[in-house]
Amino acid sequence: MSAPAPIQRVEIELGERSYSILIGQGLLSDPQSYDGLPAATSALIVTNTAVGPLYAEALRARLVSRHASVNVLELPDGERHKDWATLNLIFDALLGRASDRKCVLYALGGGVVGDMTGFAAACYMRGVPFVQVPTTLLAQVDSSVGGKTAINHPLGKNMIGAFYQPQRVLCDLDTLRTLPPRELSAGLAEVIKYGPIHDMAFLDWIESNLPALMGRDPAALAYAVRRSCEIKAMVVGQDERESGLRAILNFGHTFGHAIESGLGYGEWLHGEAVGCGMVMAARLSQRLGGVDAAFVDRLTRLVEAAGLPVSAPALGTQRYLDLMRVDKKSEAGEIRFVLIEAPGRAVMRPAPDALVREVLAESCS
Ligand code: NAD
Ligand code: GLY
Repeated sequence: MSAPAPIQRVEIELGERSYSILIGQGLLSDPQSYDGLPAATSALIVTNTAVGPLYAEALRARLVSRHASVNVLELPDGERHKDWATLNLIFDALLGRASDRKCVLYALGGGVVGDMTGFAAACYMRGVPFVQVPTTLLAQVDSSVGGKTAINHPLGKNMIGAFYQPQRVLCDLDTLRTLPPRELSAGLAEVIKYGPIHDMAFLDWIESNLPALMGRDPAALAYAVRRSCEIKAMVVGQDERESGLRAILNFGHTFGHAIESGLGYGEWLHGEAVGCGMVMAARLSQRLGGVDAAFVDRLTRLVEAAGLPVSAPALGTQRYLDLMRVDKKSEAGEIRFVLIEAPGRAVMRPAPDALVREVLAESCS
């Protein structure tokens, strides 16, 4: 067995809302992971029925010396439960134990648990601290970082939420060992994303190291998580509330969200929809002159090699257009896409309907 990868730290610089992301093996049970976190009386570990049995006890055992009471709440598992009813279970658990402002929430799970727990923390008593303990690759490289919290609405994904930053993010790479392969691939979509939008050298690295990443090599995973978090930290540090730059992190998401909500949440994984959506957004970028056919081919091959779909479901052109209008980037009904204006540089802009229709025709199977 190789030696554990050394613990790495990435800082999110947001003034008084700054925090650290720790990346390494064995973090869950390492007391240092928790140094400096709020001295709360009670802690609620929010997890789900799949992750709780695997990791909640290790986290609980570490937290009992820090808090007078530590409880675990297991939510139902899956994107289709990212809704009001499930969110309410967190409030029920907090109010049922008469938790006061001196409580802290731990989000132990993937992006669904993280987004819901963060939103609950933002709302409970108008804001209590929370810590992200992401256990999927997707959550470690993206969703646990940057303070976007939300639930879905039947009419649109992540439409109800808040910007609310965690106190810390603990990316324990050991938890990725139990992640199903399909979920690992979904996470790779969000890793690949950082290449076209910001760092083509990172895209080169991902291409060369894809077998190691898919084989869950800890050193490769550590680098992928660190570099992704560095890029996300840079973007969020400049534009926390997405008044401009932060939108680039949504490359592939306009098409992707339409796929997810059009098929019904949970049919395709978020990362799968983003993977296919990136290929579609690259095709649109090519039609607008930002990239050439070789770039689109290269991205398509990488997305496919990562185990992600590159053909979109045939929802119908008009349905795609309707779904994409219900997107937080839309303005006055005009769809705005994140497009590549040159390899490694993204921009948000509208696109002519005719070109979008061409891309849909080319991409849907
Ligand atoms: P997820 O939270 O549904 O987790 C995927 C599956 O893996 C679930 O079944 C989960 O129970 C299971 N799982 C989690 N960790 C595991 C582990 N270590 N071992 C075994 N099984 C494990 O999905 P996700 O891909 O992590 O997150 C997707 C969500 O994140 C979407 O709702 C998306 O909208 C959101 N998201 C948010 C942001 C943000 O900035 N807030 C960014 C990207 C995505
Ligand atoms: N995942 C997109 C963002 O955090 O802005």
